[in-house]
Amino acid sequence: MEIYAVKILDISEEELDKLSLLIDSEKKYKIKKFINKKDKIRTLIGEILIRTIIVENLKINNRYIRFNKNQYGKPYLKEYPSFNFNISHSGEYVLCAVDDKPIGIDVEEVKPIECEEIAKNFFETKEFEYIINQDLKFQLDRFYEIWTLKESYIKCCGQGLSIPLKSFSIEVNQYENIKVIGNNEYKEHTFKLFDIELGYKVAVCSLNKEISKNIIRLDQNCLISKYIGSNL
Ligand SMILES: CC(C)(COP(=O)(O)OP(=O)(O)OC[C@H]1O[C@@H](n2cnc3c(N)ncnc32)[C@H](O)[C@@H]1OP(=O)(O)O)[C@@H](O)C(=O)NCCC(=O)NCCS
Repeated sequence: MEIYAVKILDISEEELDKLSLLIDSEKKYKIKKFINKKDKIRTLIGEILIRTIIVENLKINNRYIRFNKNQYGKPYLKEYPSFNFNISHSGEYVLCAVDDKPIGIDVEEVKPIECEEIAKNFFETKEFEYIINQDLKFQLDRFYEIWTLKESYIKCCGQGLSIPLKSFSIEVNQYENIKVIGNNEYKEHTFKLFDIELGYKVAVCSLNKEISKNIIRLDQNCLISKYIGSNL
């Protein structure tokens, strides 16, 4: 398993257009439709990141990479069932996890929100209680940890929000001991939380027993140069 992170930098409209030429038309259209430039950059960098990883790992030329999507939108490579990946972006970060079994990753920028109210309405009762039983100053962090863990589980399963948020519960004892319970039984999924930067929460959910200890950080400009190089 490898986990990659790119901290995004601004990209000129001209370069955005140029780089978009190297990806498939559906993604290109999605990027074009975004009004917010950061949304464009995050989505483009996510695409460049996974394409660069595929070119390096699977030795496929970028122009032959074709993503399929399951009915809930999770992208995958049809001809490489043991190459699993998942992308997440938020704030200044784009992350991608790659593994030989299904994987889910979620990054969230921590924002000051009414976490008690949201947890009460959307999380399972035990998760809500876990959050509100914390010292007030830690509640927002614990809330975002549960949020990213839940999201990483949903993304690992690949079924989006067709899995109701209250239908499963994340149990956190210590960072090294995070489990998910659904239908009154523990699932086999493994979880890990990462501190990538103050103000961000990252969670990874895997069907493997071990999760990488480190995140590989890539510089955006180096990534773009490598990507352009692999397309020559
Ligand atoms: C689409 C969803 C999978 C993730 O959405 P998100 O958290 O807004 O977005 P992220 O940045 O983490 O992930 C987006 C990436 O996940 C991937 N993805 C899309 N559908 C997916 C699915 N069904 N399963 C797994 N991954 C998926 C794509 O690569 C996508 O990248 P792209 O937008 O550049 O194409 C889905 O779970 C969702 O809509 N969640 C809503 C968030 C929410 O309400 N969470 C409640 C708190 S627990």
